[in-house]
Amino acid sequence: MTTEATDAARILVVDDERVIREILAEFLTLEGFSVHTVEDGEKALTELRLRPYDLLITDLKMPRVSGLQLLERIDAERLGVLTVLMTGFGTVETAIEAMKKGAYDYLLKPFKVEEVIHVVRRALYRQRLQAENIRLREALTIYKVSEAIALSHDIDHILDVVLRAAIDEVKADVATLHLRDPNSGSYEERVKVVAADGAPRGLPSPAFPVLTEQFALGAPIVAHGGKAGRFFTEPSAPAELSSFVAVPLQVRGTMVGVLNVFSFTHGKKFDEGHRKTLSVLASRAASAIDNARLYRELLTSNDSLTRANLSLEEMFQQTVAGFAQALEESDLYTRGHSERVAVYSEILARGLTLPDPEIRRIVQAGVMHDVGKIGVRYDMLNKPGKLTPEEVAVFRQHPEKGKRILEPVPCLHGLIDGCWCHHEWFDGGGYPRGLRGHNIPLVGRVVAIADAYDAMTSDRAYRRALPHEVAVGEIERCAGTQFDPELADAFVRLIEAYRDAMRERGQGSLIPR
Ligand SMILES: [Fe+2]
Repeated sequence: MTTEATDAARILVVDDERVIREILAEFLTLEGFSVHTVEDGEKALTELRLRPYDLLITDLKMPRVSGLQLLERIDAERLGVLTVLMTGFGTVETAIEAMKKGAYDYLLKPFKVEEVIHVVRRALYRQRLQAENIRLREALTIYKVSEAIALSHDIDHILDVVLRAAIDEVKADVATLHLRDPNSGSYEERVKVVAADGAPRGLPSPAFPVLTEQFALGAPIVAHGGKAGRFFTEPSAPAELSSFVAVPLQVRGTMVGVLNVFSFTHGKKFDEGHRKTLSVLASRAASAIDNARLYRELLTSNDSLTRANLSLEEMFQQTVAGFAQALEESDLYTRGHSERVAVYSEILARGLTLPDPEIRRIVQAGVMHDVGKIGVRYDMLNKPGKLTPEEVAVFRQHPEKGKRILEPVPCLHGLIDGCWCHHEWFDGGGYPRGLRGHNIPLVGRVVAIADAYDAMTSDRAYRRALPHEVAVGEIERCAGTQFDPELADAFVRLIEAYRDAMRERGQGSLIPR
C-alpha cells in the first residue's frame, strides 16, 4: 500500500502483521508523510533497490528475513536508508544490539502514536542533516569539475576530467564513458577508459539496450558481483567484479552517453549515494560535451562559410576581370582606360576616407564603368571624326547597356550604379536619367571625375592626350556643373599629391605629362 504526498518524506514500513502496517500507514499519512508498506524483508529490499526512501520502519521479528538480517543486507548493499526498529519488551536487548549495527532508533510495541511521531521526526531530521552533508560534498565536487570543463571545447579533455573525478569521488577502480553517435545511435563513437592505477584491464562491454531501458524507467543501475552480469553483453560478469554503476548523460531529454564505474576491489561496493554523485557528474559532463559539440559545429559552419565567401570573392574578381578584358579587346583606344579609371577612383575614394568595402566597390566599378560599350559597334567607338547625332544617341546608351549586362549577375549588382551613373552631371544635365546633385550615387560621381581625367590625359582616336594641368583646369571649371564640386576639389588636391608621390618614387613616367 502506498500513500502519496508531494515532497513529503518517504517512509517504508515492514511488518508481517497487517494491522500494524495499516495503523502506521494511516497516522503517518495523516502527519503528511508518503508511506509505503510491505509484509516482509525481501519485498523491503526490492523496494529499497527500486526507489529512494528517507526512513525504514521495520519489525524485528518476522518470518524468513528478520529485522536484524534486513539491517545487515541494507548495510551490505549500501542502500543508505535510516532504520527504526519495532520491538516487543522481550526483544529490547536485540533492538539495542541492532542499534550498535547501525539502526538509528527503536519503538517499543505496543507504541503510542505520539512516540512514533516523535521518533520519526527526529530520525528524519537526522536524515536531512546527512543528506545535506552529501549534497554539500557533491556540490563541491561538481563545482570543481564544472569549473575545469566549463570553458573547454576539447571533448577528450572533458572526458578525462569527468572520469578522473568519478574515480576519486566513489573510489572506483575503473571508469568508462561511452558517447553516443547522434547519427547511428551507437555508443562506440568515442569510448574513454581511465583506471585508478593506470593499468589496462579487461572490461565487460555494457549492454546499452538494457541500460537505456533501465534509464527510461528511472531505475537506478547499481549492481554487485554476479548480479551486474545482466548489464553486460557477456553472459556473466567477470568473477573479480565487485560492483558496477551506470548513469546516463542526457541533454535536453536525449541520451548522449553513459558513464560507468567498476569496482574490482573485494568488498568495495557502490551505493545509492555514489550513484547520485555520479548522476550529477554525468549531467555536468553532458552539458559540457554538448557545448563543445555546438562550438565545433559553429567552427565548421563558419569555416565553410568563409570558404564559400572566398570562392565567391574569387569568382567575382574573375568575372570583373573577364568583362574588363572583353571591353578592352573591343576598343583599342580605351586599352588601359578601365584600369586607370579604377586607380583614379581609388585615389579619390581613399582620400574621402570611405570604409574599405566601399573603396573596393568603387575600384571595381571603376574597372567596369564602361562595360556597356561591349554592345556598341567597334568602328563607332574608334571613329576619328565627330559622331553623327544618331551615333551619339547609340553611344549614350552604354550606361544603360552596362546596367543590363550586370543585372543578371547577382554578385555584380553592387557595380551597377558605377556603370549606370558615371555620365550623370551634378547640375542634372547628364545622361541617361538626368539625375541631379546627391541623387547621383557617390560611386557615379567619383567615377565620373576619374573617367573624365583619364579621357583627357590619354590619346583618343579623335585627339592627342591633353597635359595634366589642362585636365585639372577643366575639372575645376566644370565643378558644380558636370562634377560634384566637393569631390572635384578633393580630386584635384589628391591627384597632385599622388603625382608628387609617384615622382618621388621615380615613377614619374607612369603619370600623365
Ligand atoms: Fe563612359
